[in-house]
This record gives sequence, C-alpha cells and structure tokens, in this order.
Amino acid sequence: MCGIVGYVGPRPALEVLIPGLRRLEYRGYDSAGIVVAAPGGLRVLKTPGKIQRLEERVRAEWMGTSAAGSQCGIAHTRWATHGPPTEVNAHPHTDHCGRLAIVHNGIIENYADLKRQLEARGHVFTSQTDTEVLAHLIGVLAEENDVLSAICAALRQVEGTLGVAVVHADHPDRIWVVRRGSPIVLGMGDSETIVASDAAAIVAHTNRVIYLDDDDVAIVTAGSIDVRTAQNVPVSRQVAQLDWDVHTAEKSGYEHFMLKEIFEQPEALRNAMRGRLDPATGSAKLGGLAMDPREIAQVRRVVLVACGTSLHAGMVGRLYFEDLADLPTSVEQAAEFRYRNPILSPHDLVVAISQSGETADTLAAVREARQKGAALAGICNVVGSTIARETGRGVYLHAGPEIGVASTKAFTCQVVVLLLIALKFARCRRLCREEGERIGEAIASTPDLVARVLERNDRIAAVAEKYAAARDVFFIGRGHLYPVALEGALKLKEISYAHAEGYHAAELKHGPIALLEPSVPVVALALDVPGRDKMIGNIQECRARHAPVIALATDGDSTIASMVEDVIWLPPCSPLVAPIPAAVALQLLAYHVARVRGCEIDQPRNLAKSVTVE
Ligand code: M6R
Repeated sequence: MCGIVGYVGPRPALEVLIPGLRRLEYRGYDSAGIVVAAPGGLRVLKTPGKIQRLEERVRAEWMGTSAAGSQCGIAHTRWATHGPPTEVNAHPHTDHCGRLAIVHNGIIENYADLKRQLEARGHVFTSQTDTEVLAHLIGVLAEENDVLSAICAALRQVEGTLGVAVVHADHPDRIWVVRRGSPIVLGMGDSETIVASDAAAIVAHTNRVIYLDDDDVAIVTAGSIDVRTAQNVPVSRQVAQLDWDVHTAEKSGYEHFMLKEIFEQPEALRNAMRGRLDPATGSAKLGGLAMDPREIAQVRRVVLVACGTSLHAGMVGRLYFEDLADLPTSVEQAAEFRYRNPILSPHDLVVAISQSGETADTLAAVREARQKGAALAGICNVVGSTIARETGRGVYLHAGPEIGVASTKAFTCQVVVLLLIALKFARCRRLCREEGERIGEAIASTPDLVARVLERNDRIAAVAEKYAAARDVFFIGRGHLYPVALEGALKLKEISYAHAEGYHAAELKHGPIALLEPSVPVVALALDVPGRDKMIGNIQECRARHAPVIALATDGDSTIASMVEDVIWLPPCSPLVAPIPAAVALQLLAYHVARVRGCEIDQPRNLAKSVTVE
C-alpha cells in the first residue's frame, strides 16, 4: 500500500523518480507527490489522481528550473488512509519550517496524541494525515540534533508501521530511510543509490540490493549506505541479488499486467515446482521449509492463515492436507484469527499464505501464532518480505512479480506449492511411493494444462462479451472447486464491479436461490471430478429458476453441455489439480468482462496491491 522511491546520484533525480513511481503505481494510485533538493531549498509538487497528472505538472512547472536538475529527491504514490486523496493530503509532507520533507508508508497509531502535543507548542497542520505529524516531530527534534539522531528520537515516540524516506534542505546529497514493519529496499547502482518500498522501482537500475530489517535507519548517499539500529548503532546488512530483470516488471506488449500475468502462468508454475519434485522418492524437496521427517511426523494440525485470494488458495490446500496427509487442517481468515482465542500448541503448524508477504492481517496472525507457541512457516512470493522473514522458513512461489492488483499467477502457484507441501507431509506420514509419484505427475502436468486453457482465450472472451452487462452473477462449485467459485467471484467483482457471489453449489438452495432470475447468470464449475453428478442437480435447480448457466465442463461432456446456456471447455485433468485450470478460465472470464465494461483493470477503484493496514 503506497509506494516510495528515492534517488541520489549523478543523474537528474526526476529521471529515476517518475519511472519509479510508475512501476509502483500498482501499490496505490489515488494521489502522488515528489520533493527534490534544489539550490535555495526543497521543491515540492503534489497532485491528486494518477502519476500521469504529477508528471504533467512536473513538465509544466519544473522543466528548465533547478528542480529538474536536482540529483536528490524522494517521491510517493498514495493509497489514502488518513484523509481523502487530495493535494494537501498527498505526500511528501514537510516540517514546520519547510526544510525537511518525508514520504511514508504505513500508519502512525499514536499520531493524534503526538499532534495534540505539537499543536500545544504552536504547530499548525495543513493536512489530515498522520505523516505530517511525523514530519513535524522529526523537524522539531532536528532543531537540536543532527537529522539521524532526530529520526532515532522520533522512532522512540511513534507507534505503528513505518517505511519512511526523509530529505533535508541542508543536506542535498543524502536521503535517510527507516523501516519499521513496512519494507524498504536499497538499490546499489553505479555511483548512485535508489531507495524504494519494493524492488520493482529498482530493477531497471541495478540488481544489487540491501533489504533493511525492522527498526533499521540508513543514511544513503550516491556512493554509500550507512545502516544503523534505531539506537544509532552501526549494523551491517547483506547485499542480495535480485533474481528478476526489468522485463518482468513491464507489460511486454500485453494491454494489462493482469493479462500478462494470466499468460505467464505456465512459466510461473514451472518455476514454482522447479527442482522441487523428486520422482525417485515420489515426494517433494522443499529446503526452505526446513522440516525433517521427524518434525513433520510430530505435526498434529495444520492451520492456514491468509486473506483474499490467498485465503481461497488455503481452502484448496486444506483439502490436500486432509486427503493426502490425513492431517486435521483449518483455514483461518487472518483478520479474525487474533481476535479469537486460537488454541495452539507446538504441534500445530501455522502456515501464512501471502503473495506480497506484507498483508497486515496475515502478519498479525503470524505474530499471534508465534506468541502462542505454534510452529510457523510461510508461503510467500516476495522474497525478503516481512511475513517470509518473520515465519523464518517456508516455500517461496517464485512466480515473479505480480503487479496487477487482481491476484492471478500467485493463486495457481500457491495451490501448487500447497500441494507440494501436502505431498511431502503425506509421504512422511502415510502415503506410498507409487501414490506420491502419481501426485507428482499431476503436479508436473499443470503448466501444459494451463497452456491449453490459455489457447481457449477467444472462446472465453466471447462468453464474457455475452454476459458482460450482467449486474449480478453467481459462481457455484463443490469440493476442490468450491474455493475456485469464491475466487472466480472475487476476481469478477474486484475488476469489473459486477456484483458477484461465490457459493457452495449445495448452499444455493438455502437462501441465495431466491435471487435467481433470467438476468442473473450462474457460472457452474462442473468439471469431470468428484461431485459432478451432484452439480448436475444444482444446475437443474438454477435452470428451473430461468437463470442462464455458464458451465466450466471437461472436453466432450455432452451431458453438461445439453443442460446449460454456454460452456467453457477445459482439458481433462486429475481432480487434485482441477482448481488450477478452472481458476485460469475464471481469471480470463473476469478480465474480459472488465475489458468490455471499460474498467481500469490493473488499478481497480478503491483497491491497492498489498494491504498493509488492518
Ligand atoms: O499479498 P496477499 O496474498 O497477502 O494479499 C491478500 C489479498 O489482499 C489479495 O489476495 C487480494 O484479495 C487480491 N486483490 C485479490 O485479487
């Protein structure tokens, strides 16, 4: 949520800041701003709306001025939390004398108290944000200290999550950055340093990065990075290598990131399983999970915690752990987890599933589980993310960066990774090698399976066009396909704004069936997997209420075809992996409906890619 980029080096900072903001726009896109250090002081420009508007203003107001040549600056793209997306609320925010400016990701929980104290000392605030309070606080402390000491002192007073970058008019050669719960990455270029809240803004310039730890403060110049603890004690942090190149963060000819990411799924799935399937043992090799067979045998229960699409992947995963490994498994909506009294012991393995690895609710669930003594593991896509670090072990998706706000390739890779983990557990507990091999083959088939679904894109687009005007849509499924029905509905509503509901097919008759009528299409997941026969009955129930039914059916299933309005054909597959091709078909369906409706597919209204507030 929100994006930060900063630059200090020999080039005009704008050359890096504006394209950097564009790459981070998926993290928040309701307003944006920029500050550069120029002779005579800081120059600030802010605007509501997208980066494009900021860029236009920069061109109109700064070109030919000293601001355009500045070699040091920071910028921000916002997803509003405190105060609506207006020019005054946009970041950067300056201190009381306008000599210091900051951009901030996260939330300062005690900002109201701090604001009252500062107001009592005569400070006047122009915005409704928590960030402006932090700017004033650091500014006041910097009157009697150097900036670094002022930041450290401020950190002792603020509560909440922070990813912060600071510039000061008296020091036009440096940026100070802080990480507390909100990621900051430092890119080490050729005599230049790029600061960002995620690597997408850095990868065009360098692959060498430093990930800050929580409560790190760093002073960054063109040629140096000096990392300190919040107590101002020097620490050293490892230099890491980014394993993706600039093209992975670009649209590469696709109209939208979402479409590109849907089409990347065969490759993403290959990467997610690369080197992990072990045909010799019929099991999976998952080094990052760091669990030996004895530890696995001691697990009594698996608890999967996640939000949104990741939660739906967890619902598929639960069936894998139960069916294959005979392990009691629950799936928990992460936001509720710590507000209940989850009963946990060291024999419970809590697995946090998160594409971004930054989702605040999931992170809070991880902390609750740790405090209650449970064993932990993470399934994340973003390497070095907070959840990946705090769980300490787990399995990365290796799906590559997911920029589209609607999660697509992360879902299918999460399902595959959950199946790999369940396979490993099953082999340690009860499953014979032959069965393991069979499951391994099913997993290995998924990239080709998805490629065959993608070949049917035109047919799916035609179905989408036919139903694009629908105001309400139901998605129904059973067994492994029930979570996919929920995911299909989520995809459709978040990018097309059609009202969509996912239901277990059997649940429809317990209430929602009252809403069915000719204008309400039902998408029925009727693949040739266990539960299909019952699904036939559920389809009949919908037809009897004159609702048009669109079925996802297995190639050649004439029984299903004869009962429904439209069919999206999918290739035959093992029931275990059926959620994967089915999800891909529904991603395409949602995409094309949104396209026909003229929606902003990569940046749907009110949303942001990673949700770092509870
Ligand atoms: O990064 P995470 O997987 O933790 O994100 C969880 C949800 O916020 C995310 O899946 C969200 O529901 C997506 N917009 C769905 O497309």
